[in-house]
Amino acid sequence: MTSKTAPAHPAPSSGLPGADRLKFSRGRDYWTTHAEPETGLRALRLADGPHGLRVQDDENPDHLGLERSAPATCFPPAVTLASSWDEALIESVGAALAREARASGVDVVLGPGLNLKRSPLCGRNFEYYAEDPLLSGRLAGASARGIQSQGVGACLKHFAANNQETDRNRISADMDERTLREIYLRNFQIALESSGAWSIMTSYNRINGTHVSQDARLMSDILRGEWGFDGLIISDWGGVYDPPAALMAGMDLRMPGGPVGPVLEAALAEGRVTPDRLDEVVATLRQLAERTAPGDTPAPDPQAHHALVRRAAAESTVLLKNDGILPLAPQPGQRFALLGELARTPRIQGAGSSRVNARQVSPVLGTLDARLEAAGASTGFAPGYGLEPGPADPALLAEAVQLAEGADVVLLVLGLTDAAEAEGSDRSHIDLPEQQLALLAALDEARRAGTLRAPVVVSLVNGAVVTTAQWRDGAAAIVEFWLTGQAQGESISDVLLGDTAPGGRLTETIPRRLKDSPAYLDFAGAHQHAPYSEGIFVGYRYYDARDIAVDYPFGHGLSYTSFAYEDLHLEVCDPQDEIALRARLTLRNTGERAGSEVVQLYVSAPGNGFVTPPQELRGWQKLHLSPGEARTVEVAVPRRHLAHWHSELARWIFPGGALEVRIGASSRDIRLSATCTVPGEALPVVLGPWSLFGDWMEHPVMGPRIRALFAARGGVKGRAGDLLNDPAGRNSIYSTPFAMLTEFPGIPMTHEELAALVAEGDALNG
Ligand code: BGC
Repeated sequence: MTSKTAPAHPAPSSGLPGADRLKFSRGRDYWTTHAEPETGLRALRLADGPHGLRVQDDENPDHLGLERSAPATCFPPAVTLASSWDEALIESVGAALAREARASGVDVVLGPGLNLKRSPLCGRNFEYYAEDPLLSGRLAGASARGIQSQGVGACLKHFAANNQETDRNRISADMDERTLREIYLRNFQIALESSGAWSIMTSYNRINGTHVSQDARLMSDILRGEWGFDGLIISDWGGVYDPPAALMAGMDLRMPGGPVGPVLEAALAEGRVTPDRLDEVVATLRQLAERTAPGDTPAPDPQAHHALVRRAAAESTVLLKNDGILPLAPQPGQRFALLGELARTPRIQGAGSSRVNARQVSPVLGTLDARLEAAGASTGFAPGYGLEPGPADPALLAEAVQLAEGADVVLLVLGLTDAAEAEGSDRSHIDLPEQQLALLAALDEARRAGTLRAPVVVSLVNGAVVTTAQWRDGAAAIVEFWLTGQAQGESISDVLLGDTAPGGRLTETIPRRLKDSPAYLDFAGAHQHAPYSEGIFVGYRYYDARDIAVDYPFGHGLSYTSFAYEDLHLEVCDPQDEIALRARLTLRNTGERAGSEVVQLYVSAPGNGFVTPPQELRGWQKLHLSPGEARTVEVAVPRRHLAHWHSELARWIFPGGALEVRIGASSRDIRLSATCTVPGEALPVVLGPWSLFGDWMEHPVMGPRIRALFAARGGVKGRAGDLLNDPAGRNSIYSTPFAMLTEFPGIPMTHEELAALVAEGDALNG
C-alpha cells in the first residue's frame, strides 16, 4: 500500500513547560504516533491484528473493519488457534503475521485479544482464546512471543474485563477483587510473564465504576507496579473519556490521533497534567521505537503462510462426535451430497476491526468435491439455506433433501454468519441460524420417513459456540472447524479425508442451553452495570460446581485414534522450588492412526480455606504420537499457579495441603488421578478482639494460652459452660466474637484482659 503522509497536528503554542510534548500523548493520525526528528524519535505505525494484518489507506481509516485494507494472509482467529492448545504453533503464526507487518512498515500489531469468555453470547468471542485464565494467558503469550520474535511489537488487548459488546463504552464490569485477580486480570498477567509484551491496550469498559483507561490502580499500581510492565499503554480507539485523568492515571497513548485539544492544554496549564508525565510518555514511545527498530526480518512468503494457515486450522479442528464415519474413505462410485451455502460462500473470519482482506480464499465447494471425485466418487451440491437472516426457503430445503436422499454420504456445512456474530453487538442465543435449523429438521424428517439413509457429517464454521444438543443425535459426525482463515477448503478436506488428524480440544464449554451458562442471569447487565455475580465460577468452574450436563465439556475433542493413559507418578517439590509438583505418566497411542492428544492436568483443592471450584486447569502437554508409540509426559505445575487471591490480606497465597491431581482427556474425561500433600504457607490468622472465639481457640499459640488461663480460673461456668459442653452449643460459642463473649457471665476473662492478649498477639505477629 502507498503510505500517504497526513498533516501533523500543530504543537500547542502556549510556551508552558511540556507543552511541546503534549502531542506525544495522542496519535498523530488514525494509525501512527508523532515523531521527534531532532531527537531521533521516529513515528510508529500500528495496525490490527490479530489474525492477519489490516493496513488501511490513510485517507479512509476506520476501526470497525468497514473500509478495505491491503491484502494480507488471513490466519485462523484466536478461537481456532486456541483449540490447538499448541503454544509452538501459535508462536509460529504470530511470527508469520509479524513478517507481514514488518514488510508493510507496521511496528505494532494490535493483538492478541485475550479477554476471558465469560458468556457464550459475547460478539467478539471469536477473537478471544478461552474461558480459563491459564490457558488464555499462555496461548496469548505465545502469540505475543511469536510477533515480537520478528522485532514487531505485540499489544495485549483489551485490558481488562471487556467481556461483552453491549454498551461496551459505558458498561461497568462489577466484580469482587478475587474474581478480578484470579480470572479477568490473571490471563493478562500470565501472558505478560510469558511474553514480555511491549504494549497493552486498555478496554472500552469500566470496572467497578471506573473506566479502565483512567484507572490508576489498574494501570499504575497493578500493571506497572506489581507486574513490572514497562511498555506502552495504548487506549482502545476512542476509549478515552477524560484525557487528563487518563494520562495521569498511566495511559500513555490516546488513539486514534488528532489534535491535542484545549482540555489537555488547560490541564497542563493548571498543573493537572505534569511535564514529568509527558517526559515518561516520550521515553516509553522512544523505547518502543527502539524495540521495534526495523532489522533484517525475513520477507514474508505468501505461499508458505497459506500452508501454515492450512496446517494450523486442521491442528485446531475439534472433532466433537464421530460414530466411525470419519475419516472419509471415498470409493469409486460412492455418491456424496455436499450441502450448505457456507460450503460455497466461505466464512473464514469474524466481522469488525479484525477483518482481514484475505489474499486468497479457498471454499469447501471446489476443493472437497474435487478430491472426492479424484478418488472416483461422485458429488452434487445444494445450498440448502441462505446467509441472510429470515425464514427458510422451502425450495432450497426440498432441493437439498432430494440430493441427500440420493447420496451414500451427506456432507453438511453449517455455521454462523456475519449477522449472527460480530464486533459491536452480542448474540441473543446459541443456536444455529433459523434456516439451518430448518434444514436439519427437514433431513431428520426424511430420515424418519425412511427416504434418507445416508449418514450425515456436519462440519461447523463459526466463531462463537453453537449448541448441538437438539440435533446431534441425527448426525453421524460433528466437526467444529471454527473460523479457519483463508485455507478453508483445504483444511476442511484434509481433516474430513484423514490426511491430517483433528488436533483441537475445546477451550470453552459448549452448553446445552443458554440458560445453563454461568452469566445467564446477569449478561449483559442493565443501566450501565454488569454484575459478575458468578464470581470466579466461569466456564467449567461453574458447570462442574453445579454438576450441570453440557453439550460438550471444556477440553473435549476426539481423535481418529485412541490413547491409553498409564502410570501416573507425582513428585512434590521443595517449598523453595518455583515448581510445586510434577506429574509424570505414559501416554500410548493404542489405535491404528497417528494422532495428537492434549493431556490435561486439573487440580482439586477442597478445604484449603478458600471457596474453590471442584477442579482447575493447572497445566497440559500436547503430543503427536504414531500408532503404537508410547511417550513419557511430564506436566510441571508452578507454585504460583496454585495460589489464590486472599481479599483480606490483599495478596496471593498458596496455603498448601492435600491436593488431588487429575489427568484427563477433557475436564469430564479424567483418566488417572492421585493425591499428594504440597507444602504451602499457612493461612495467617490475624487475631483481634472481634475474631471468633473459635479462631482464638484454634490458634497454635493463643489457643493453649487461653485454655491454660481458663483452667487456672476454674473453667467456663454457668450457661456458657453448659453450651461449651454440648456439641451444638459449642459451635455457637465458637462462632461468636471473643469480645462479645467477655460481656457474658461465666467467661473467666475481661474485655481489658482480651485487649492485652491482642497486643501480645500483635507483638507476636511482628
Ligand atoms: C477495537 C480494537 C481495535 C481498534 C483499532 C477498536 O474498535 O476494539 O480491538 O484494535 O478498534 O481498529
